[in-house]
Amino acid sequence: MSVISVSDVEKANGVLVIAARDVLTPLAADRAKELNVRIERAGVAKEAAAQAPLPLRPIVQGSVKPTPATKSPVGGNSIQPGALSGALYRRGAPVPTKMRVRDNLEDAAQENRPRAAVIGAGHVGAMTALRLAETSLFSRVVLVDIIPGLAAGLALDMWHSAGLRGFTTRIEGSTELSALEGVSYVVMTAGRPRQPGMSRTDLTGVNAEIVGGVADGIRRHAPNSVVVVVTNPLEEMTHLMAKRTGFPSNRVIGMAGVLDSARFCSLIALERVAKPQDVNAIALGSHGAEMVIPLSLATANGRPLEELIAKDRLAAIVERARDSGAEVVKLLQKGSAYFSPAESAASMVAAMVRGGSSLIAACVQSGGAYGVADTRIGLPVRLDANGVKEIVKLPLRPDEQAALAEAARSIAKRISELG
Ligand code: LAC
Repeated sequence: MSVISVSDVEKANGVLVIAARDVLTPLAADRAKELNVRIERAGVAKEAAAQAPLPLRPIVQGSVKPTPATKSPVGGNSIQPGALSGALYRRGAPVPTKMRVRDNLEDAAQENRPRAAVIGAGHVGAMTALRLAETSLFSRVVLVDIIPGLAAGLALDMWHSAGLRGFTTRIEGSTELSALEGVSYVVMTAGRPRQPGMSRTDLTGVNAEIVGGVADGIRRHAPNSVVVVVTNPLEEMTHLMAKRTGFPSNRVIGMAGVLDSARFCSLIALERVAKPQDVNAIALGSHGAEMVIPLSLATANGRPLEELIAKDRLAAIVERARDSGAEVVKLLQKGSAYFSPAESAASMVAAMVRGGSSLIAACVQSGGAYGVADTRIGLPVRLDANGVKEIVKLPLRPDEQAALAEAARSIAKRISELG
């Protein structure tokens, strides 16, 4: 089985013959219509009907009388307008009149919502796509991966859960970055994960190549999007994404602070001082050794953590939060954390779509804020639909300010070594 994408359609000369089990992406189907390319499926008509573009809008069974055209066999092996393939009840396709009115209303509602894409269908990417879809904030979430069938298969599997979970965001899979057309938010997760004993920086070489290629695709196909980078090493890859896309700093944001803050709050909750959601703390600096968690600002149910938990214990928890990624990698033996990273990335994008975030930490271009080196570093920010709305100045203690400045220096050095 292959995934038939927009570029396959564009290469075709009038007719594109595909195998019975091939998956035609909805974007490719749209493109075929635009270019008048006829899609012919090898195999029987029944198979053609079953192999509709993914994902399908569920057809309201029995509510619409098929037109004569839909009753007849699907014109040999080709997909004809009016065939009951489900795929054809999509935007702009010829449909029975009764359905058209209702469909157009649905489409209008769908299309009023933005589209999102997740690059990389590994564990983090797949989970992020699902979390985004579950919000129903998006008309579509496109999952992209170069491995044939992986993103399409995962997307279909996720879409199968839509009715159970109650979400309306369509999830699609593609092998092509051209699937990013029309996307407003991109989450970049593609890249190698750490193995036990590896630091995030060990991934620089291999992941820089991947990020560079994807950045070119984003620039080309989603030039107005906001990009959230998850690929490690986080600060370097966020920087590379910004440089290669040429996007302004507010539209390229690294995801780390939300995750590191969440890890710290959850670990504090294990001390039985408060529920995780009632712990308030923010992780700044780097997503790694130079992480800075200003304890002067950390509270549980509004009470300073430094009053609730002994100093040594608190220091140990900061240490554990800083090393949490490695702790999970070591336990898993293969791959790295994905539930909390995906939740973190999805919550950032969802906050942007909802109109803005509360105060969160994210990897941004410091641009003189906090008086630290001008580099990509985790700082307190507010997000809005266009990415970073503002960097927020919090009152740090001198030791916390010094640690942040040190983090900025180290990150700036690593970024300069990127070349
Ligand atoms: C981690 C990866 C996302 O910290 O960097 O688990």
